[in-house]
Amino acid sequence: MADLLLGQVLSFAGDPFVEGPGAARHITAGGVLVENGRIAAVGDGAALRAAHPAARLQDYGRSLISAGFVDAHVHYPQTAIIASWGKRLIDWLNSYTFPEEMRFADPAYAAEIAERYLDLVTANGTTTVCTYCTIHPASVEAIMAAAQGRGLRLFAGKTCMDRNAPEGLRDTAQAGYDESRALLQKWHGRDRLSYVITPRFSPTSTPEQLQALGALWREYPDCLMQTHLSEQPDEIAWVKELFPQSRDYLDTYEAQGLLREGAVYGHAIHLTAREKARLAEAGASVVHCPTSNTFIGSGLFDMGLAKQLRVGLATDTGGGSSFSMLRTMAAAYEVAQLRHQPLHPSQLWWLATQGSARALRADHLIGNIAVGMEADLVVVDLASTPAIEQATRRAEDLWQALFPTIMMGDDRAIRAVWANGRRL
Ligand code: GUN
Ligand code: ZN
Repeated sequence: MADLLLGQVLSFAGDPFVEGPGAARHITAGGVLVENGRIAAVGDGAALRAAHPAARLQDYGRSLISAGFVDAHVHYPQTAIIASWGKRLIDWLNSYTFPEEMRFADPAYAAEIAERYLDLVTANGTTTVCTYCTIHPASVEAIMAAAQGRGLRLFAGKTCMDRNAPEGLRDTAQAGYDESRALLQKWHGRDRLSYVITPRFSPTSTPEQLQALGALWREYPDCLMQTHLSEQPDEIAWVKELFPQSRDYLDTYEAQGLLREGAVYGHAIHLTAREKARLAEAGASVVHCPTSNTFIGSGLFDMGLAKQLRVGLATDTGGGSSFSMLRTMAAAYEVAQLRHQPLHPSQLWWLATQGSARALRADHLIGNIAVGMEADLVVVDLASTPAIEQATRRAEDLWQALFPTIMMGDDRAIRAVWANGRRL
């Protein structure tokens, strides 16, 4: 049985960083026909209604129907320590993150947080995340099973660390390889789930472990590989000490076979000219995590990169201070303002949907509204609070009507979420 969603429909026919706002497609009284988990038709609402009289009608009035948000870099195990006060990256990891990740040795705790995390993100309109887990295979099992139960498309991997982490949060080069491989074989490609090879970052992996995970990636080349890159100056100096033979931070990955298409690097703030050029040449992706970069004090991402390479947008929960991609778009706007790179609402929305999907090499499946794509949708109320409603009253186009929700919206703006063609 088909469902017909009526409302304003926003989609993209191109990349607004290349083509400008004209890359967006807006239908004021539009419709999206959903059948068997896919988008079967998009167009004028009345015409679709006439053509599909048997479809179940979901009339969302003036609300905006968009592809569900795609959050390209998160740590679901950090759900409970979000908004922890007063540290910068390395101290924050040691003080808050590692003790919390230790608790995921208990599969029941992992399952509880996985469900809580997915409740929180779907309430915020996010239908796909790419998440780090912990060192414990049970942490991967928990989030994969939770996403599978909800019909979500999800990317996740066991976070490998074999040094500079406390006892209980370290594996070895061999165990990291073996456990990652077993999880990959079990979960990758099952339903809507993808396994991601996940060395945490160079400071917590020996060259041997990075090499082992590089070898695993060569065995399973269609997987993504995710890690962190050049987030804070102290971290970069530490990498220099740990890898004296490397040209730069990116080289610590490149030397072990961890740089090519399908590599997804979080943060990537303080890059050298060589690193930028190599990332572009290799077809790698970087992910902007603006609430995290301000919260942990990391720095201001260069949005100019969006013209050269695949850039995604992410909350980076729990270094990031929010589960909401609306709040994350607002932070991206503010950070770009500080760099004199004003972002258009079309660019912000694209980053949170198709841009992130493209960074994860899944833009043929999710992140846009088009016939044949998977029906992961968010319905956004553009007047969800009195403050937002009054700011949109004089709006003359979609962007003026949408921008106050980007800047001030939260989960109250999320009217409905559809995943895999089903309303959550
Ligand atoms: N670098 C290595 N691990 C982490 C993490 O968990 N969060 C952030 N923000 N940066 C990291
Ligand atoms: Zn991260």
